[in-house]
Amino acid sequence: MKQYSYPPHKVKILLLEGVSREAIERFEIAGYAVEALGRAMSAEELKERIADVHVLGIRSKTEVRADVLAQARSLLAIGCFCIGTNQVDLDAAALHGVPVFNAPFSNTRSVAELAIAEIIMLARRAGHKSDLLHRGVWEKSATGCTEVRHKTLGIIGYGHIGPQIGLLAEALGMRVLFYDIVPKLPLGNALAVASLEELLTQSDFVTLHVPETELTKNMLAEPQLRLMRQGSYLLNLSRGSVVDVDALVHHLQRGHLAGAAIDVFPEEPSSNDEPFVSPLCGLANVILTPHIGGSTVEAQRNIGLETSGALLKFVEVGSTTGAVNFPAVEVPVVSGSHRVLNCHRNVPGVLKAINQIVADLGVNIQRQTLATAGDVGYLIMDVDKSLAGEVKTKIDALPESIKTRLLF
Ligand code: NAI
Repeated sequence: MKQYSYPPHKVKILLLEGVSREAIERFEIAGYAVEALGRAMSAEELKERIADVHVLGIRSKTEVRADVLAQARSLLAIGCFCIGTNQVDLDAAALHGVPVFNAPFSNTRSVAELAIAEIIMLARRAGHKSDLLHRGVWEKSATGCTEVRHKTLGIIGYGHIGPQIGLLAEALGMRVLFYDIVPKLPLGNALAVASLEELLTQSDFVTLHVPETELTKNMLAEPQLRLMRQGSYLLNLSRGSVVDVDALVHHLQRGHLAGAAIDVFPEEPSSNDEPFVSPLCGLANVILTPHIGGSTVEAQRNIGLETSGALLKFVEVGSTTGAVNFPAVEVPVVSGSHRVLNCHRNVPGVLKAINQIVADLGVNIQRQTLATAGDVGYLIMDVDKSLAGEVKTKIDALPESIKTRLLF
């Protein structure tokens, strides 16, 4: 990917929380100085360490707030080697000229596979029978056990994970319905339904794949659970806040629902040393897993590759595709030019001021792309090699400029 000789000095990369080997190797092969630690850092420690760090890689436990960013004088980018990014103050990072990257698709398949496995386990009461057998109880019986073929699967949230589950379920002979607040292209033979109520009343299995938002908080509570078919099953591998657990327990105990598979909970232990407590514990035909939907070797590897790839592309050619807090700009490299990267406050007149600088210096622009999002604008501009340094210095001096780099 490297097209420019930038950076002239060694870029320092600090990776925390046991970021995968694949990511570390990728940075090392690219020639960067990597320090990789297996643990998270407190804000205080990070503030002391971050001044000369160019790229920071974290997972979910290291918090990067405005006070940490204020000390991050050299920071170019942050990589969240996970899906979520709420451990970073995204607005503050953008205003600091720091794009934040993550790995949104890396564990999609892993979640889909677990959901499919659980659909069959629930239909065969296999989790429950396994629990009994561990306790010495031999319950060989077909009562309440069915195939999943010809049954209806209702998917709530048809983003990345939902359609993958739909396709796998169709391969098992299931009929697939989905409900999403945004119109989506159905994959395979899946059918979109117009309302959540329609989905709930028609499905034998209901599986949730929505994000945690104000709209999804308790979206399956008493009134919605009541609409579900007698003897149907609920799966939640999305976020714990989406289901009212007490209402779910009620519907399981009275036999309205025949079982559930729950991977996420309103309150989850913060480490493996803490006990897990939930009213769902001990209920028959309820499969509980400790938020492992996306936890596979393959997903970890993909997260490492996806996030490190995005970070390298930003450091080496300035691409911000995939950044969660920055305008997306990706420009093919023009040979024989230098590249100016400028992040600025999103106010009127900045492009005009930049173009005036270039015109006054008599420099030829080979390619120029600017995009804005929220409070920041981001420009990639390829210019003739002569005077590129002066262009960079003058753009950097504009009052609206937040951060300017030159790739040469
Ligand atoms: P996504 O963002 O690709 O898809 C979410 C879909 O839900 C979007 O199509 C969106 O339009 C839809 N949606 C949002 N609000 C809705 C509403 N009120 N009603 C109906 N649809 C709504 O997300 P992705 O990657 O498919 O993940 C889904 C969920 O799974 C997320 O909450 C994520 O955090 C969780 N997840 C859990 C994992 C685990 O280990 N159990 C691993 C990976 C993701």
